[in-house]
Amino acid sequence: NPLKSAEFLISAARAAQFPDEDSPEVAFAGRSNAGKSSAINRLTEQKNLARTSKTPGRTQLINFFQLANGARLVDLPGYGFAKVPPAVKEKWARLIDSYLQKRPQLAGIIHIMDVRHPMKPFDEQMLAFASQIDCPIHILMTKADKLKRGQQARQLQIVRNALGEAASVQLFSAENGQGLEEARSIVAGWLKT
Ligand code: GTP
Ligand code: MG
Repeated sequence: NPLKSAEFLISAARAAQFPDEDSPEVAFAGRSNAGKSSAINRLTEQKNLARTSKTPGRTQLINFFQLANGARLVDLPGYGFAKVPPAVKEKWARLIDSYLQKRPQLAGIIHIMDVRHPMKPFDEQMLAFASQIDCPIHILMTKADKLKRGQQARQLQIVRNALGEAASVQLFSAENGQGLEEARSIVAGWLKT
């Protein structure tokens, strides 16, 4: 697993702090508390690489992790957490936008959605944005362990139908490793590791 070599590189509060190496990176996006940091930890087989929390809004900076070959994983702050003041919210939104708008290194977006609450307005926005900048996007419907197999399949079908050709999608669980190999091979493929 080439992702296992990931090491913390930098927490960026503004665009000037983003690493400027040309090597490719994959960003993990999604609503607050969806499970972005947990997915990174599972994919890299490192329990505490990205900080996770029961409190939504834990990740407020953009965290970069570097692999042995120089490629990077990027943990974005979650969108749409209701309980932070509007000024803070706006600051996060601007930070994320400044990342997504001008990042030629961005090889793909892993978009994380809770399998129980897929395709909310922010998810739609991210899909539209990825298509606008012509960036590949793969969706992890995470926390699959929270639903029975039949319900998982039903949710997956609903999202597949809604997406059409816009993105690929799979079930995932950071808790029990469901869907891990499929997700890993997508990330590794984008990063050419
Ligand atoms: P922010 O950084 O705040 O936007 O959140 P995040 O998207 O990084 O979510 P995080 O990984 O911190 O997970 C949020 C909560 O969901 C934590 O309590 C995790 O333990 C839990 N969680 C994440 N993934 C899974 C999963 O696959 N299954 C279950 N059961 N819980 C999960
Ligand atoms: Mg996080």
